[in-house]
Amino acid sequence: MPLIDFKQVLIQARKEAFGVGAFNPVDYASTRVIIETAESLDAPVILQTSAKTVSFYGHKAIADWVRHLAEDTTVPVSLHLDHGKDLDMIRACLDHGWTNVMIDASDLPFEQNLERSRTVYELAQPYGVSIEAEIGEIHGVEEDIVVEEGHGSVVDPEKAVLFCEAMDLGVFAPAIGTAHGIYKGEPKIEWDTLETLYGRIPGPFALHGGTGLEDNIIQRCIGLGCAKVNISTQLKIAFVDGFCDYHRDHPQDYEPLRVIGGQMKSMSEVVRDKITQFGGAGKGAALLTSIGETISN
Ligand code: 13P
Repeated sequence: MPLIDFKQVLIQARKEAFGVGAFNPVDYASTRVIIETAESLDAPVILQTSAKTVSFYGHKAIADWVRHLAEDTTVPVSLHLDHGKDLDMIRACLDHGWTNVMIDASDLPFEQNLERSRTVYELAQPYGVSIEAEIGEIHGVEEDIVVEEGHGSVVDPEKAVLFCEAMDLGVFAPAIGTAHGIYKGEPKIEWDTLETLYGRIPGPFALHGGTGLEDNIIQRCIGLGCAKVNISTQLKIAFVDGFCDYHRDHPQDYEPLRVIGGQMKSMSEVVRDKITQFGGAGKGAALLTSIGETISN
């Protein structure tokens, strides 16, 4: 199955109140785990590459892996750029077949964020690629982007409505009190804000900072329009721990492919748990049919 833009998938997910897992792969093995686990659960899935990962391997290598691994799947698979900041990086993703890109200009004042996001929106239009954009700033460290605790800002609903009316986003990322990385304390979710946004903006939202959020918090966010749920840190932990645990349990085994197998098992447990928890299992093939109908209508 060719890769597909996540826009229609997320519109449907918001309608049916389930979440699509958006996982950050760091190499070929993690890419394979994400796609194979989604396929085994009949679930739609989003692979979102950080700019740092793209710079490390190069656009072509990543696009080739993902296309090749997705080609025999029967579920929707999208390839997204997470927290894109650099226009050249974004342009190269568009040229290499990314189905979605995020522009993160959330550190800029509102008007400039809007202008930069619209520039990327216009850039992506001829490719048929829908975009993710963020307002407010999400706490924590995501790759090289650091937002100190206490410095992130929660989204202003009036500005959010203006922002979403200014362009037809694939998904909107509002800062609602979640954070990237490991939570230092109890996250304080701005429920009133999220409820207002849900009532006023019809499109799907992205929930950033999914690692470490309690199940009931994630479920409530999904019910309030967060159709895309981001998981990065938890997969990184499984990547490293899976490798170390295998070596601890098999100290004499220096066959790399078995060690990588242990690492993949550990990552697939995370992907399986999250997809199941978000309610995406069993939705994949049916979604392709309903999206097909939407596109042809
Ligand atoms: P975590 O690092 O908390 O999993 O968040 C991931 C994310 O939101 C990526 O944009």
